[in-house]
Amino acid sequence: MLDRPPIKRMDEPIDEIRAAVRTVDLHKTYKGPGGEVPAVQGIDLSIAHGEFYGLLGPNGAGKSTTIGMLTSLVVPTSGRATVCGFDVAKHPVDVKRRIGMVSQGNTLDNELNAFENLEFRGRYFGLSARDARRRAGELMEMFNLTDRREGKPFEMSGGQAKRLMICRALVHHPEVLFLDEPTAGLDPQTRVNLWDVLRELQSGGQTILLTTHYMEEAEALCERVAVIDHGKVLASGTVDDLKASAGADTVITVSYDGPVPDGVAKLRDRGGVTKVEVTGTQVRVFAQAADGLLGELVAIGSSAGTGVTDASQLRPSLESAFLTLTGREYRE
Ligand SMILES: Nc1ncnc2c1ncn2[C@@H]1O[C@H](COP(=O)(O)OP(=O)(O)OP(=O)(O)O)[C@@H](O)[C@H]1O
Ligand SMILES: [Mg+2]
Repeated sequence: MLDRPPIKRMDEPIDEIRAAVRTVDLHKTYKGPGGEVPAVQGIDLSIAHGEFYGLLGPNGAGKSTTIGMLTSLVVPTSGRATVCGFDVAKHPVDVKRRIGMVSQGNTLDNELNAFENLEFRGRYFGLSARDARRRAGELMEMFNLTDRREGKPFEMSGGQAKRLMICRALVHHPEVLFLDEPTAGLDPQTRVNLWDVLRELQSGGQTILLTTHYMEEAEALCERVAVIDHGKVLASGTVDDLKASAGADTVITVSYDGPVPDGVAKLRDRGGVTKVEVTGTQVRVFAQAADGLLGELVAIGSSAGTGVTDASQLRPSLESAFLTLTGREYRE
């Protein structure tokens, strides 16, 4: 389909050639009227072909900026990134031919119908008129959009529009698919349906890099994740690695109607407890063995004459790992 130019990548180190995505000490500082914003501060990633990889982080963590650099839309301030062996700064055209990108907002062309959105993208990537139409039809079928063929994007539901954007990103058979918060703003059922679509894509061999601020999304889809915040990787690995390395299996948070009773601090010596954090009227207990612990926290309160106003118990999850890593709530 595309004539792929030989082999500027032979001069690159071997691991960069093999990796689908690799970054080394990647930085981006935006310079604006309000001063400098260090959005990405030294990110190292290495993603294999065929892998489903998640960049997980709260609002403003630097996810879109990282994806922007990997897709040659944002120029790195320093460091290095390669996609399919090509340096994103030196060979942006080679990179763009090999990637598909679904950005955070809806970027479909409302002047064109659904089918034409795909067909025109195919033509843009050099497919013949016939091949572009064939590919558009094939993708619409694959993504269950055939009955929306003539519809304009603005007439589609959020989930349909997102599926169409994914189709459009796949028209030219990209080696790596970048998805920036693909399920943000979708209702839970639509989100789960989209997860199925993405799983199917990956089982067909598609390399996918997805950003999300939904823990359960990363947990449901990704083989490996990097948790990022303030432009840095806090931890990376398989979801299980992260849960294990974070140490805390269960996080119990209790709010009292007055200062946290002194007796709570003694829980530090209780078997299975790894950490006790007291902030004002709230205590957070991290524990490997949490049986009965919530009851004890309530009992300590009552014997000190202090009531419990709120209590929650977070079972082992990526979310409890994040809490353990960062020491604070995951910001939405
Ligand atoms: N074009 C820009 N100019 C200046 N600052 C920017 C620009 N784009 C992003 N930023 C800032 O860089 C930081 C990282 O933003 P980025 O959009 O990469 O985060 P994000 O993780 O994608 O967040 P979200 O979950 O909200 O999409 C934020 O502080 C943001 O305000
Ligand atoms: Mg973003």
